[in-house]
Amino acid sequence: MTAKTMDELVSLCKRRGFIYQSNELYGGLQGLYDYGPLGVELKNNLKQAWWKAMVYDRDDVEGLDASVLTSPKVLQYSGHEDTFTDPLIDCRSCNSRWRADDLVELRCPSCNSEDLTEPRPFNLMFKTNIGPVDDGKNFAYLRPETAQQIFTNFKNVLDSTSRSLPFGIAQIGKAFRNEVTPRNFIFRTREFEQMELEFFVVPGTDEKWLDFWVQARLKWWADQGIDPKNLELHKVKSHELSHYSKTTIDIMYGFPHGLEELEGIANRSDFDLGSHTRDQAELNIKSKVKENPDSATRLAFQDKQTNAWEVPYVIEPSAGVERGLLAILNEAYKVEKLEGGKERLVLALKPHLAPIKAAVIPLKRNHVGLVEQASKIKKTLQSLQLGRILLENSGNIGKNYRRHDEVGTPLCVTVDFQSLEDHTVTLRDRDTMGQKRLPVSEVPAHLQGMLGIK
Ligand code: GAP
Repeated sequence: MTAKTMDELVSLCKRRGFIYQSNELYGGLQGLYDYGPLGVELKNNLKQAWWKAMVYDRDDVEGLDASVLTSPKVLQYSGHEDTFTDPLIDCRSCNSRWRADDLVELRCPSCNSEDLTEPRPFNLMFKTNIGPVDDGKNFAYLRPETAQQIFTNFKNVLDSTSRSLPFGIAQIGKAFRNEVTPRNFIFRTREFEQMELEFFVVPGTDEKWLDFWVQARLKWWADQGIDPKNLELHKVKSHELSHYSKTTIDIMYGFPHGLEELEGIANRSDFDLGSHTRDQAELNIKSKVKENPDSATRLAFQDKQTNAWEVPYVIEPSAGVERGLLAILNEAYKVEKLEGGKERLVLALKPHLAPIKAAVIPLKRNHVGLVEQASKIKKTLQSLQLGRILLENSGNIGKNYRRHDEVGTPLCVTVDFQSLEDHTVTLRDRDTMGQKRLPVSEVPAHLQGMLGIK
């Protein structure tokens, strides 16, 4: 059973310290969220899982962490200055603004007036000054996608790693879009993170690699706990494609507010490298690109045998971290009926994503002997570097189990008076609620087993 409403997720996230409205103290800023003690752990775990699958587990991908502030030239030649827009409509009666494609009837959703302006393009990129002079000339954009700096670093990475095609460059980082109507909690925000891979391939092999990445990404989402039944593939219609795309397949997920894009996998052809490259005329670029007299470098690949230059095609799996979190939280959220008519809320996260891997709980709060024993166990488990281990010295064992069910902690380790005598503890499993007694010395292996490490 998945969550019924977005409100239930929002409430859990705030109550348990996953996600808060940003700038709430001063009334909040729309479309921005802060990640609390458990949110930051969950986010980091998801990003690590992506990095592991996309970089460490492969032999053909390098990593990158480029700057957020981006030269206007990059976004001029990438096409974003001209085309990264949403059609905007103003209501002349109440001055509210809407995305044209959000208006089902030609009426203002706020005041119902029909006195609306014609749609006009609104560029979604944020700008900021560079340096002390605010003359409108020295500015940078906050990147609207992490991809562009991967393209502009193509030659740097190629030269410093001696890669040959096919190979990829992966990056995780913030992206910013001045969305006209941010909404649906963390689904559409103005500041978010992307996990993007630009995979450079020999032209002609691009559609084969597109299929490969679609299948690989579906499997990865399933490995993060998303039921494949809740995922759908949508081929983007040609008139809806981004300006750079030859083909795009969206992985759609049934969010609480409806079926929407979780990740896009695009065949960006030779558009981006072709747009940013020097010597365009000599390179047989197949996409329609702007003439570029400003680029200092040739972004192409030279075949060692034939010496011929070729601009690679690019396959791009691009996933949003926050949309991933929302989907994962939605899948994990379960209300279970217990014996005696009671209910429990459990967040059945995959253990590798759980913000807290294990809670070590002294049966009696502040009892010196129990807390000392529990602290030792916590330290031993923490030294395994599996993620956060929590010493839960807050009394009431029943309440602790319930709290840890709600935040997805897969294992609770309870230290009681018997533990002081025979060095055994009670292990309590989040999903089955089953309990068993084990020697303290066996707890590390048990936890590693739960996390699939041993
Ligand atoms: N580099 C390609 C690119 O940026 P996109 O479809 O615009 O393509 C990729 O974005 C992914 O980034 C989306 O599938 C979504 O997961 C995430 N994303 C895009 N806009 C977002 C927003 N305003 N808030 C949260 N996530 C967003």
